[in-house]
Amino acid sequence: MRLLFIGFGTVVQGLSELIIQKQEQLKAEYDLDLTVVGISDMFKGSLYSPNGIDLKQALEAVRNGDLKSLPNQFAGDAPAMIAEADADMMVEATYTDIKTGEPATSHIRAALSRKMHVTTSNKGPVALFLPELKKLADENDVKFLYEGTVISGTPLLNLIRETLAGSHISQIKGILNGTTNYILSEMEEGKPYEEVLKKAQELGYAEAVPDVDVLGWDALAKITILANAVFGVNMKPDEFACEGITNISNEDIARAKAEGKRYKLIGSLKRDDDKVVGRVGPEQIDLSHPLAGVMGATNAVTITTDTLGDVTIVGPGAGRIETGFSILIDIIHAGGKR
Ligand SMILES: NC(=O)c1ccc[n+]([C@@H]2O[C@H](COP(=O)([O-])OP(=O)(O)OC[C@H]3O[C@@H](n4cnc5c(N)ncnc54)[C@H](OP(=O)(O)O)[C@@H]3O)[C@@H](O)[C@H]2O)c1
Repeated sequence: MRLLFIGFGTVVQGLSELIIQKQEQLKAEYDLDLTVVGISDMFKGSLYSPNGIDLKQALEAVRNGDLKSLPNQFAGDAPAMIAEADADMMVEATYTDIKTGEPATSHIRAALSRKMHVTTSNKGPVALFLPELKKLADENDVKFLYEGTVISGTPLLNLIRETLAGSHISQIKGILNGTTNYILSEMEEGKPYEEVLKKAQELGYAEAVPDVDVLGWDALAKITILANAVFGVNMKPDEFACEGITNISNEDIARAKAEGKRYKLIGSLKRDDDKVVGRVGPEQIDLSHPLAGVMGATNAVTITTDTLGDVTIVGPGAGRIETGFSILIDIIHAGGKR
């Protein structure tokens, strides 16, 4: 399988490490031989070789700066690479723009139209345009996969799609954002919000401008993806109520604790007949609920089914290797044989 990487940042570097490490295992278990033929990155540079790029060399070069001193330089930008490359699958991992979905959505449309499978960890295109992109993939007889867009490598979407196949799912409810869960967990120790946010920024959990996390927008994008992917609707982020954690005080948290409850930023979706309703907001969760014990930057989701009752999956929601792994899952599903 010939791969094209659009974006060569944290996630794709993690994926590259996994591909190098698991090359023999992928051949033996899935008859899957992966060759990266193209890498296009805005500032790090672009490479194209139909015979394959040396991934170890590319990783080494990028650790020392960029790809510009390596052989097989490609002169064009990402759209030019997608238009010209001979590849079976594109990995889209440029930055997320939750408001427009660009430039990723244009990259994905172009690759699907050229009959490449696509995998992305980018929430923008999936939250805004999933039904359209799925249709385009179907028309071109290729797959559009996006496991990494919701709680990264913890395989929530595959769990629902494959492992729980045949179940009727009536509710999905979870901790979909690690940064805010870390902040609420630390605030329970009595530390003030500003101090905890600063620590989260130092640890790399929160951005310098933390709005996407603390105002609930990241969780909002994820419940939109879940609504459209699991319940087959065509909803947009602005159809859900959204509140972040900035109005929660240490006193609120202590009061909840005294009543046997714990504040969590919860994204929830409920299906009533054909209607799907959902919201993101702080909720007081009973300490006996599995979500209440999930602390720090960990994510967790409870799925309510007619077959098993509640099923809860807990795991990492971000990280270089973790999100790289989510892309590898999609590559194996698109091209591997079992
Ligand atoms: N990191 C995580 O744990 C995680 C978890 C879940 C989802 N995600 C999502 O996965 C995607 C990738 O994340 P990341 O952490 O790898 O981000 P990142 O480290 O910022 O990497 C993104 C890369 O895309 C490149 N890029 C931006 N615009 C481009 C364009 N128009 N054409 C070509 N390359 C372009 C950037 O180039 P320059 O830096 O050279 O400008 C950068 O190297 C994002 O959408 C993110 O939201 C990440």
